[in-house]
Amino acid sequence: MLTDKRILLIISGGIAAFKSLDLIRRLRDRGATVTPVLTRAAEQFVTPLSASALAGAKVYRDLFDLTDEAEMGHIELSRAADLVVVAPATADLMGKMAAGLANDLASTLLMATDKRVLIAPAMNVRMWDHPATQRNLATLQGDGVMVVGPNEGAMACGEFGPGRMAEMPEIVAAIERALGDGPLRGKHVLVTSGPTHEPIDPVRYIANRSSGAQGTAIAAALRDLGARVSFVTGPADVPPPAGVEVIPVETAQEMAEAVNTVLPADAAVFAAAVADWRVANAAAQKMKKDGSGSLPVLDFAENPDILASVSKLETGRPGLVVGFAAETHDVARHATEKRARKGCDWIVANDVSPATGIMGGSENAVTLITADGAEAWPRLSKDETARRLALRIAEALA
Ligand code: CTP
Repeated sequence: MLTDKRILLIISGGIAAFKSLDLIRRLRDRGATVTPVLTRAAEQFVTPLSASALAGAKVYRDLFDLTDEAEMGHIELSRAADLVVVAPATADLMGKMAAGLANDLASTLLMATDKRVLIAPAMNVRMWDHPATQRNLATLQGDGVMVVGPNEGAMACGEFGPGRMAEMPEIVAAIERALGDGPLRGKHVLVTSGPTHEPIDPVRYIANRSSGAQGTAIAAALRDLGARVSFVTGPADVPPPAGVEVIPVETAQEMAEAVNTVLPADAAVFAAAVADWRVANAAAQKMKKDGSGSLPVLDFAENPDILASVSKLETGRPGLVVGFAAETHDVARHATEKRARKGCDWIVANDVSPATGIMGGSENAVTLITADGAEAWPRLSKDETARRLALRIAEALA
């Protein structure tokens, strides 16, 4: 809920501006007060009258408006809010913000505010991918500006890719989180991630190709919805997200122990690619060639199945246990069997056949297996897959 929260909503001029009218309605439904600010270009897409009617409030448009300045100056306007939201944020407005320009009401408010700023970018895919936009994005994030979206999808201009403004529930969730009030507030979620390294001797190990990208994105998405996240991670390629409790481990056995210390949790997501076997006869010292040409023999022992043992806990089982499955064929069937075998509530099944490029790549195409059946999700970025999963987890825990 956003009861009594005051939101200054800057609408800049993109085709997604019409969606911001719905955003006004949703924010007010949650008890927030919304003060809309329209840029000149935004007025090409929505009228001040409709924004004003939905907000039940005055709409601000001009920097040099004597009536407005007499009522409430732009400095005061920029500070009389709990949060400043820019939706949609065009490439132009992001550029102005990054450069520190203040030549209209919206950009001036953004420079003058002492409150946190959340932007929901929306633009053509090439404009989003342009190095200038990416540079501005990095600058803004470095300045502490929070960003929600953009998502991938079909665009009004007919192209496909990242650039669509985030969906309204995602923007509302980001606003709630920015105001310290996401749907997972007060919930503790465990996430395992990354590969494990199983030593052969002190310098050699057996590993797998997991980069940790999907688990990291899931931890960040859960954090963004307000959860307290414990992140148990093997040696991953990507750094862990900020704002979560990180418990680094090497081996499957260490991961199992770390998970035990982290529980209890309201939900647990097992995204780690845990080695099924460890080397039972790992050497305490580096194994040397002895010159005889004889080859070392590795004996294997089975690692504890962390997902299965947590799923089958009699006491202290998390309310929702989510496992992953890496499959190359018959994805839904194998994953459905795996769900039953492991005793977890959901399985997120990946198609990891080499042709998909998912292992180590930035995208994913998952099938979500629940008690209700299999749901094939479209091919999405790992971040977007993570956001969808986090929203589903929030719904399930609600
Ligand atoms: N898992 C675990 N502990 C293990 C092995 C796996 O927690 N020792 C978890 C993984 O984090 C993942 C799921 O179990 O959530 C994957 O199960 P697994 O049996 O390893 O299946 P796949 O990797 O998909 O492969 P396969 O069934 O083909 O062996």
